[in-house]
Amino acid sequence: MAESKPEQEYVFFAKDELEKRKKAPVQTTAEDIASRFLEQRRVTLIVDPKQGFNNRIIRLWINKIKPGDQEGMGWRTLGHRHTVEAVIYIKQGKGYSIVDGKRYDWEPGDFICVPYFAWHRHVNESDVEMHYMACTTQHLSRALGVAVYEDERYPEYWVFAQKSEEAMKGLVPGGSEVPPPVTPPPSKQSTDSLDSRLYEEQLYYSANEEMRRRAGKVMVKGKDIKFNETRMGFIAHIVDPRIGFHVKQMSTLMAEIAPGGKSGAHRHLYEEIEYVLAGEGYSIIEDKRYDWKKGDAFSIPMFGWHQHFNTGNEPARFLVHTSRPGMENLGHVITQQGEAYCD
Ligand SMILES: [Fe+2]
Ligand SMILES: [Fe+2]
Repeated sequence: MAESKPEQEYVFFAKDELEKRKKAPVQTTAEDIASRFLEQRRVTLIVDPKQGFNNRIIRLWINKIKPGDQEGMGWRTLGHRHTVEAVIYIKQGKGYSIVDGKRYDWEPGDFICVPYFAWHRHVNESDVEMHYMACTTQHLSRALGVAVYEDERYPEYWVFAQKSEEAMKGLVPGGSEVPPPVTPPPSKQSTDSLDSRLYEEQLYYSANEEMRRRAGKVMVKGKDIKFNETRMGFIAHIVDPRIGFHVKQMSTLMAEIAPGGKSGAHRHLYEEIEYVLAGEGYSIIEDKRYDWKKGDAFSIPMFGWHQHFNTGNEPARFLVHTSRPGMENLGHVITQQGEAYCD
């Protein structure tokens, strides 16, 4: 007789989740992405839960802006902003982005990290289509119930920007128009109780956060990216809170594998989306082999072992986006190293 499931869902949830994960796709091919990209006028999904992938936090897509379009998406002043972190990789075209009022010139191979809720727009100054790939944390913001998207073309849908001039400029939804003292007033520092001081700190946290965000890095030029040896192979951290970016939810790196070489093997409690920028080979992901080439993409399952092998004649390069900072901030922290890389 078949055993019946316990009534309490929380008892069997993890096992069910694991089964669901095994049925979710892991790979998408360059051909599939390219054919959809040709048909679409704008955004083409690469890895997104809407396609059946098991991601809950980050997503990867590719977009185009027509040649010589000085206005980007029709934006002229503010552009748009959202309570979502984004890392943008320029594949084609030449131009600039205005992020929180500052101009950043880019060309293929460069990265732009858009801070949470900063106004931004992209302008393609070249005579070819601008192609850019973006990884964003939109699904996390929606799941947390804090998703806000404000666009200069639709002020009637603004939630915070219409409140005041200051709110238009702020990086903190609904709060940055408050004058930003860095520390609680002196009268609150020494004489008050610990509880009072903790609460005062809480009140001023967003103002301090605003300053930290504005001080964070935004741009990485492709020519400045340098790979260094690690137990996982040659890696260059691109966007990470530990190297000056004000990101709390996602991070980005690039990995390189020499011809005939392999990466290390590891698994971790965070989402990872990988895009093959160059080369060909195969990967072992949770005991299954997947052959890949330039333009393919992977959604690495949560806590699934993965290792990559370069079978081609040129160095293989992976663009890797993860939700590691977000998971660490939530207290889900573990990375386990298996076999180390070798030449
Ligand atoms: Fe955006
Ligand atoms: Fe990984």
